[in-house]
Amino acid sequence: MVENKKLTTATGTPVHDNQNSMTAGSRGPTLLQDIHLVEKLAHFNRERIPERVVHAKGSGAHGYFEVTNDMTQYTKAKFLSDRGLRTPLFIRFSTVAGEKGSADTERDPRGFAVKFYTEEGNYDIVGNNTPIFFIRDAIKFPDFIHTQKRNPATNLKDPVAVWDFWSLSPESLHQVTYLMGDRGIPATWRNMNGYGSHTFKWVNAKGEVFFVKYHFKTDQGIKNMTSEEAAKIAGIDPDYHTRDLYAAIEDGDFPSWTLYVQIMPEAEAYSYHIDPFDVTKVWPHADYPLIEVGKMVLNKNPENYFAEVEQAAFSPGNFVPGIEASPDKMLQGRLFAYNDAHRYRLTGNYQLLPINRAKNEVHNYQRDGVMRFDSNGGGSVNYEPNSFGGPKESPANSPSPFEVSGVAASVPYDSDDHYSQAGALYRLMSEDEKERLVQNIVGGLKQVPEEIQQRQIGHFYKADHDYGERVAKALGMAVKA
Ligand code: NDP
Ligand code: HEM
Repeated sequence: MVENKKLTTATGTPVHDNQNSMTAGSRGPTLLQDIHLVEKLAHFNRERIPERVVHAKGSGAHGYFEVTNDMTQYTKAKFLSDRGLRTPLFIRFSTVAGEKGSADTERDPRGFAVKFYTEEGNYDIVGNNTPIFFIRDAIKFPDFIHTQKRNPATNLKDPVAVWDFWSLSPESLHQVTYLMGDRGIPATWRNMNGYGSHTFKWVNAKGEVFFVKYHFKTDQGIKNMTSEEAAKIAGIDPDYHTRDLYAAIEDGDFPSWTLYVQIMPEAEAYSYHIDPFDVTKVWPHADYPLIEVGKMVLNKNPENYFAEVEQAAFSPGNFVPGIEASPDKMLQGRLFAYNDAHRYRLTGNYQLLPINRAKNEVHNYQRDGVMRFDSNGGGSVNYEPNSFGGPKESPANSPSPFEVSGVAASVPYDSDDHYSQAGALYRLMSEDEKERLVQNIVGGLKQVPEEIQQRQIGHFYKADHDYGERVAKALGMAVKA
């Protein structure tokens, strides 16, 4: 028999009755002096925090990363410096557009956000299960997400908005093709790859710069779900992916991924025929082959969903020495957006929450603020410069200096080739997958006005004539010669 602990109020005093409110006699009314009742109801009213504005539905797990190939040649990041070195981590998988209770099996990119608790501070890779994205400038993100969320009048998902935006933003074509293909609905989170998507900067101890792309390849193998299977499962078990991950880890069937990088020496970035900072493009493997880095293993479920998963705050701006931002315009916008979202969602001291707290020592002059629930620096000096042994900056950890040039203005990208890589992706699909791709596209496109259909089909034709022709035919429209 488990011995019951004494029930107390939040201030620790014993609760005398947790089933009957204090009332005037058996028929009431209820007395305001029932402090326990008031506290219970008031706390309950405050149980919800804002859900993430995107990626609201998700789940997470703890694990570790182990280096199999040391990366000192390319980066001075300590957690990548020695074969066999293990770093604890937390990962959160998610869908993008749905609300917190939405179905896991929607066709949507999957978030793949990893927080490495390194000895030099937290490093986050906040990626997706796709190596590319729909847009390439942060200024378009709120508009894009509005089209993925609900219509302001009907509160329904809105295919017209979705295809209107995509057809008017042809840089989305590569990712749209990816999303509508088989990998648009993974069978489980364990059966999909993860990508950093953006290009990041690595700097080694000599100060040499390399640009890098991350690829986490699933060791479970890629497996996907058809639209029909997904729709059925959404009705039966909307938490299917959440359940699968939890059960696998509980059963000791620990999922793992092998991390690879593509490495581009700095000088090549300015002569390569593809803009390496354009997140709608991949670097073909033939040009930049995958180099193994290590293995990520997930071996522990969260003990408390809210504390560990809902309160987790990932940021593409959480870097460690040896890893820095690239000039990618989307990434630059994200460097602002995440920490701002966390301050709104979790308040300004969100880094102190156990799941977000660095596992190395943190020393700074930040004090006070809402929910400062640690010792707040105690009596230590709270200003700098000071003569009392306060923490000091370390110039050795300065980011690598880089040159900038150009006229400051709202400048578009200098390449408009939205089609070559979308076409390459189409051509590597099997005949069956091409058919499913077209059916998935038509499922959405048939619900939108003809003007939008025509505009979008024009993009498919430019990617690959056969692609355009198949979609046109499936929609019952005239095909181009
Ligand atoms: P490669 O043939 O060297 O690589 C093709 C890549 O595509 C592999 O990473 C493979 O992933 C992935 N892939 C295979 N089938 C599908 C599919 N049905 N849907 C989505 N991805 C798939 O060619 P390139 O590097 O020249 O790239 C060609 C095209 O492949 C690109 O335009 C891009 O759309 C796509 N791709 C490229 C990636 C890259 O980083 N270069 C990464 C992912 C996709 P896996 O090995 O896991 O099966
Ligand atoms: C979550 C903004 C592009 C992956 C979020 C959140 C915001 C946001 C505000 C919610 C954060 C929170 O409340 O904790 C943006 C903006 C983007 C952008 C402004 C473009 C400029 C991308 C891209 C990727 C991505 C390109 C992937 C490559 C994710 C993931 C999460 C997320 C995985 C969920 C993190 C978690 O699990 O907590 N994004 N995003 N986002 N975003 Fe983005």
